[in-house]
Amino acid sequence: MKITKICCIGAGYVGGPTMAVIAQKCPDIQVTVVDLNEARIAAWNDADVANIPIYEPGLDAIVAEARGRNLFFSTEVEKAIDEAQIIFISVNTPTKTYGKGKGMAADLKYIELCARQIARVAKDNKIVVEKSTLPVRTAEAIKSILDHTGNGVQFQILSNPEFLAEGTAVQDLLHPDRILIGGDSSEEGQKAIQALVGVYSNWVAADKILTTNVWSSELSKLTANAFLAQRISSINAMSELCEKTGADVNEVAKAIGMDSRIGPKFLKASVGFGGSCFQKDILNLVYIAKSYGLNEVADYWEQVIIMNDHQKRRFSNTIVQTLYNTVADKKITFLGWAFKKDTNDTRESAAIYVADALVNEQAQIAVYDPKVSEKKVLADLDYLETRTSAQNKACVASFEDPYLACKGAHAIAILTEWDEFKEYDWKKIYDSMQKPAFVFDGRNVLNAAEMKAIGFVYHAIGS
Ligand code: UDX
Ligand code: UDX
Ligand code: ADP
Repeated sequence: MKITKICCIGAGYVGGPTMAVIAQKCPDIQVTVVDLNEARIAAWNDADVANIPIYEPGLDAIVAEARGRNLFFSTEVEKAIDEAQIIFISVNTPTKTYGKGKGMAADLKYIELCARQIARVAKDNKIVVEKSTLPVRTAEAIKSILDHTGNGVQFQILSNPEFLAEGTAVQDLLHPDRILIGGDSSEEGQKAIQALVGVYSNWVAADKILTTNVWSSELSKLTANAFLAQRISSINAMSELCEKTGADVNEVAKAIGMDSRIGPKFLKASVGFGGSCFQKDILNLVYIAKSYGLNEVADYWEQVIIMNDHQKRRFSNTIVQTLYNTVADKKITFLGWAFKKDTNDTRESAAIYVADALVNEQAQIAVYDPKVSEKKVLADLDYLETRTSAQNKACVASFEDPYLACKGAHAIAILTEWDEFKEYDWKKIYDSMQKPAFVFDGRNVLNAAEMKAIGFVYHAIGS
């Protein structure tokens, strides 16, 4: 089947960049990204590409090149579904906040809405692709909804998980380690798989395109995220031991990473991992294991989350203890709020939880993040429902200038590893602070010897 029209439901961190790259690499395919959120679509269509809703290095240039040519952003969901041969579902699947599986299971209501909408609108055969991270066997649920519409349309469901990491999304999409496509073993299923393989073949080598059954594909995505998160919790567990024993976690990470069986990547000790995927996917994995009665499997993976929560709490506790057991009315400056550098995404960012703990201790938090607005910072805190919006607003303020944010502070906490933090005039910052001037480097980005030479009391993770 020659694919000429694709649609993607959901113009978020996954759908937006992925479709932009497909459009750039496949000029013969018309790619339409739809979303219910009108403001988000308007931002994607903003005449000035600097205003697209997602900050990703290199994304603006790709959107500028393809938008209006074969890349379109629209709120006309039904029209796009009707016209497309392949429909990607890329809507959010947050952890459930109510009912059965609350706090663990993935909330599939947005997925189900999409499936029902596709079922209602489709007049000819469609390939439906799961792009969002989903619990194993979601494809079955989607298929069941689609197959019971009674209008004779044939649907093929593929699982095609996205492995891009935010902050490097464009590079990850252009040069993926692999593309994974799961589909049915029937002849129609294999044809659908080949249609999607054909799209990726425009820029990805054949040996990097892996095809499997649907369940392997769905489970591989959860497994990959669980393994990645586990590495961070493992090195973070060691960071606490290093702090007690005089070992240095950076040296330990380097030493073990040179073992080719372990490898050097993803061993950076930190204040704790964040992002929309790791915690959600592991909780989901734990929930699935429990639902099959696999309690040891569930407990094993849950420990990754327990360790991560501990690491975040440990960081705020260290700040309070070091500041003579009280931070009440002290100004503590956060450098960074995003869950990692080079993104404006703050979902599950460690910064939110550290700030919440310090505000409980009546600290005054000043925030500087190059890509995150004050509105977002406050919304993140409000979402926790620890206190009222007015109370959050009274304790937390954002600054546009990092030097102003640090002025008069008792302590600085580094929550995100933005490159620019290394380039600051730290002597100037030191001079403007209360003394002793404390720095808690939650990302180990600064040079300990230089910071101490300036006069800072400098705390890093794991040394
Ligand atoms: C291990 C370390 O690899 C080595 O670096 C250290 O110096 C000593 O401990 P060893 O126990 O000799 O070496 O063998 P190893 O290859 O690590 O295997 C250990 C066990 O794990 C074996 O029972 C092996 O069968 C098992 N294993 C290994 C698996 O079950 N799956 C794997 O993928 C790898
Ligand atoms: C992750 C997976 O990497 C990606 O493959 C999947 O598609 C989505 O989830 P993402 O959450 O965007 O991507 O970013 P990632 O680079 O994995 O970082 C996640 C969190 O772990 C961040 O908070 C990051 O700062 C933290 N991290 C990462 C560490 O603390 N140490 C590390 O060594 C690596
Ligand atoms: P992700 O990181 O998985 O891309 P986001 O939250 O950034 O998640 O994006 C998901 C997008 O999907 C949101 O912009 C949301 O408005 C959109 N969405 C959710 N449900 C639907 C739906 N039924 N139809 C269209 N868009 C939807």
